Amino acid sequence: MQIEAITRMGFVPVPYPTALRACVRQAMKSWKDFCQLRQEDKQQLSLGDRIKDIGYVLRDEKGLRKDSKKFFHANLIMPDEVKARARDIFDQRAVAFIDATDVLLAAIEPTIQAFAREVEGQFDLSGFESEVMKSQKKNWTFRYLHYFPSDEGIEIAHAHTDRGGFTLHMSESHPGAEYLGFDKNWKPLPVSESETIIFPSMGLQYRSDSKLKALCHRVLATPEAAREGRYSMVGFIDFITGHRFNDAQFRLQDFEPGFNYQMSDEEFKKFFIPR
Ligand SMILES: [Fe+2]
Repeated sequence: MQIEAITRMGFVPVPYPTALRACVRQAMKSWKDFCQLRQEDKQQLSLGDRIKDIGYVLRDEKGLRKDSKKFFHANLIMPDEVKARARDIFDQRAVAFIDATDVLLAAIEPTIQAFAREVEGQFDLSGFESEVMKSQKKNWTFRYLHYFPSDEGIEIAHAHTDRGGFTLHMSESHPGAEYLGFDKNWKPLPVSESETIIFPSMGLQYRSDSKLKALCHRVLATPEAAREGRYSMVGFIDFITGHRFNDAQFRLQDFEPGFNYQMSDEEFKKFFIPR
């Protein structure tokens, strides 16, 4: 893992071992199949609410800077109820999808641990690997996304940084993901079938005293994505620290792209409050 690239490029490409690549491919296929189910069947797998989304979530908001997408949130404490309901749908695609999420969650763990270990070593973050691994059950969330067909060239995900610790972009059906380089130019995020991209989010910038910067990114609709919609899989890896982003006072959507790149660590930490 070329961990030192993270301060130069803002992210690290991590090649998938062969077995993991197969799990990712299978999870993506099963998610696309799941999306073909009838709406009322998919809705059976909705648990949680706007604050804590678990399972299937349909978000179809209208207007500026609103999202139009559906996604599925899986984590390691996914209630047995989700699995039971998947069986009750009596469609093999529902069960196959839930099974594939389980397999992937277990298979991706060593990659996440290796990243945490290398960050700890390279940037002198004592105890970081163990914080990440202790947070596995409650604070790792895997999001399976399907953006609906849209107009070509529009931002289907607006420029933003992620709130959690760090983020894995694991698979995408089409190109179109871009990151804001430290030179403030937008560049393609090279997600491919053979590797995942890992980048810091707000939590890791905080934890590293701004040695690492939360990477600003966005998704544009390519002509194919505009026509067919866009499928992707993302892992949000959070860890419990003494502070958290103050989302009662600040909205990440309101920040300028790259607001955090040049900012002093002291200024940056004002966005956080004790947990
Ligand atoms: Fe994001």
